[in-house]
Amino acid sequence: MFYKPLQIGDLHVPIPIIQGGMGVGVSLSGLASAVANAGGIGVISGAQIGFDQPDFAKNPLKVNLEALTRHIHIAKEKAKKGIIGVNLMVALHQYTEYVKTAVKSGADIIFSGAGLPMELPEFVKGSKTKIAPIVSSVRAAKLILNNWLRKFDYPADAVVVEGPMAGGHLGFAPTYFETKADFDLELVDIIAMVKEFGEKVGRKIPLIFGGGVFDQSDFKKYLTLGCDGIQMGTRFVATHECDAPMSFKHSYITAKESDITIIKSPVGMPGRAIVNPFMQKVLEDGRVPVKKCYKCLSKCNPRTIPYCITEALIHAAEGRMDEGLLFCGQNAHRIQKIVSVQELFDEMTQSA
Ligand SMILES: Cc1cc2nc3c(=O)[nH]c(=O)nc-3n(C[C@H](O)[C@H](O)[C@H](O)COP(=O)(O)O)c2cc1C
Repeated sequence: MFYKPLQIGDLHVPIPIIQGGMGVGVSLSGLASAVANAGGIGVISGAQIGFDQPDFAKNPLKVNLEALTRHIHIAKEKAKKGIIGVNLMVALHQYTEYVKTAVKSGADIIFSGAGLPMELPEFVKGSKTKIAPIVSSVRAAKLILNNWLRKFDYPADAVVVEGPMAGGHLGFAPTYFETKADFDLELVDIIAMVKEFGEKVGRKIPLIFGGGVFDQSDFKKYLTLGCDGIQMGTRFVATHECDAPMSFKHSYITAKESDITIIKSPVGMPGRAIVNPFMQKVLEDGRVPVKKCYKCLSKCNPRTIPYCITEALIHAAEGRMDEGLLFCGQNAHRIQKIVSVQELFDEMTQSA
């Protein structure tokens, strides 16, 4: 076997594969429980998780918190021995309410990026829930780890590094994608920094890499570089168990490399998505006016943003492919077919 189980505190993960949280409605209890049952960590995305509920438009926060609890309970019920995580973006309005709800509902681990989760340890103290920041630079990793230690005496339970080939929001300046920078160099520095930090606090802090991990050779490559596990998003979209509609999964299969691009997001970070009629309109007209504000982001001005991210992602989750924002990783165009989560795990772990 070329990999070792992942140990995050008292959480034992037989296969060091983490399914990245994917919103809106892409990784819910269905996908997360299937991944947890296959031996990895299944992750529920908390982003607008109540989008399919009747009262969502009236009271999004209340409905989202109820849906978050429900999905955690369902996933834990379906994967009794598995590990269920929750992904929460710092940029979310009332982020701490989501964190508190995830902890109360028994999430095994919270992954948090799209901003710096500086205060996260405050909300898990006294619980069994582990926490892992998602970072894309040594600078962010250092800032968060040092802050958590100094302010809360809490070293991270794990660190996820997300590289520039990932899907969804990306922790890089838009100009980064025009450079030919080799992210592996940054990754090696982050691995060294986290290792040194772990030695200082007397604890091994597992490091997980995500972004463009596609096959077993990538998996082996990142373990050889010094990572303890990998995170994958795009490959899990093209599984039967993924909670997104079939049309969403099919858009990956039909996408050509030239259809995948870097976009501007109201979250204030670049993102990666498939160019469809919706994105074409944003690119050509500059903006799709906002009809309703869901108050989803802590910093957002509906009068100036290029489009409403919640509305665009919900359209995609509802299967309205021409009107929605289709997030994907750089390698989405390489996907040929939809497989089961177990088949994907077998492909990633077994010798050919
Ligand atoms: C459709 C989609 C939605 C995503 N949504 C989120 C999200 O809500 N929060 C987050 O932290 N990352 C999100 N991501 C990033 C994934 O969790 C994962 O880290 C990343 O996609 C890994 O790169 P890969 O897709 O190349 O495997 C999303 C990715 C995709 C493809």
